[in-house]
Amino acid sequence: MATHTLSVIRGDGIGPEVIAEGIKVLDAVGRLTGQTFTYTEHLAGGAALDACGVPLPDDTLRGVKDSAALLFGAIGGPKWESVPHHLKPEAGLLKLRKELGTFANLRPATVYDELLDASTLKPEVLKGTDIMVVRELTGGIYFGPGGVTGSVTASGDHRVGINTEVYSAFEIERIVTVACETARLRSKRVCSVDKANVLASSQLWREVATAVGKRYPDVAMSHMYVDNAAMQLIRNPRQFDVIVTGNLFGDILSDEASMLTGSIGMLASASVGGPVGFFEPIHGSAPDIAGKGLANPLATIATVSMLLRYGLEQIDSANLVDAAIKAVLAKGLRTADLVAPGAKALTTTEMGAAVVVALGSTAKAH
Ligand code: IPM
Ligand code: MG
Repeated sequence: MATHTLSVIRGDGIGPEVIAEGIKVLDAVGRLTGQTFTYTEHLAGGAALDACGVPLPDDTLRGVKDSAALLFGAIGGPKWESVPHHLKPEAGLLKLRKELGTFANLRPATVYDELLDASTLKPEVLKGTDIMVVRELTGGIYFGPGGVTGSVTASGDHRVGINTEVYSAFEIERIVTVACETARLRSKRVCSVDKANVLASSQLWREVATAVGKRYPDVAMSHMYVDNAAMQLIRNPRQFDVIVTGNLFGDILSDEASMLTGSIGMLASASVGGPVGFFEPIHGSAPDIAGKGLANPLATIATVSMLLRYGLEQIDSANLVDAAIKAVLAKGLRTADLVAPGAKALTTTEMGAAVVVALGSTAKAH
């Protein structure tokens, strides 16, 4: 029987409770498909800071590099807001991405018919929306030179905060190539998003993206300025298939795209391009609802599907998990984020259990 060793970082806030449900689903997939998943647990983020004084211990990095894939919960919270910048939980996450070389972050925003009413936007605008944001993850302004220089003196505050957007042609080429390859398996449209009317880094981005696009004659490549893209996403989201963009624009546009689907509690992500893939729900640690059984585990369960699809190349297993998610939604099962305030909803563990049951029935039907 095949065995896969996965590393797991539960993290902070709702991370541990949603990861517990993801693991239940993985174990169920293992039983149905005749394979075993073993898990090695590692610390990162606030939990690591409390236990070891750093947000990304060397042991964690070594352990993750030794595994087949990383399943990651979420990190951060108010408890660590005032720690120095380089020790923040978020700094640990950025270092992990960089060290793993996972330059391509895939963030799907798929609107399920069953949840059309859960969004704040009109159902007729949303129906059929299926977007994949391909965000560059290890470059751009997140990693360019910067810092705070100068000081506060008797004559005033002379400090200057600096960050620099840096993209090499090589970095642009490889991320746009991932976007074109991704589009080939979908509706074959790529929209490259930049700010080429203002930024030199974006001018290079557009030039290189255009050249990559020429290598994919079967993929329709278009270009959009980021401000317009932010507006078009709300005006007519169906016009998009794959959106490829830099680190900061991708961070912002993927949060925006997530709200098309009704809840950020539904959305998964895969970070690939290095030797070990990194899979995390995009919702973050949500400290306000941690430990209350309110968190929606479907984002983590969809993340498990991406881990199977992109990390272990088990397309059939991934399809099983996706079908189980659809089945629970079709049955009308909802967590608190998807119902009117105060209405009855499933807890985190009840939703996880419902997906495991649905997996059993969808597997039989296949
Ligand atoms: C994300 C988050 C992170 C980011 C933070 C937590 C550093 O917002 O994964 O989108 O900005 O990349
Ligand atoms: Mg973000």
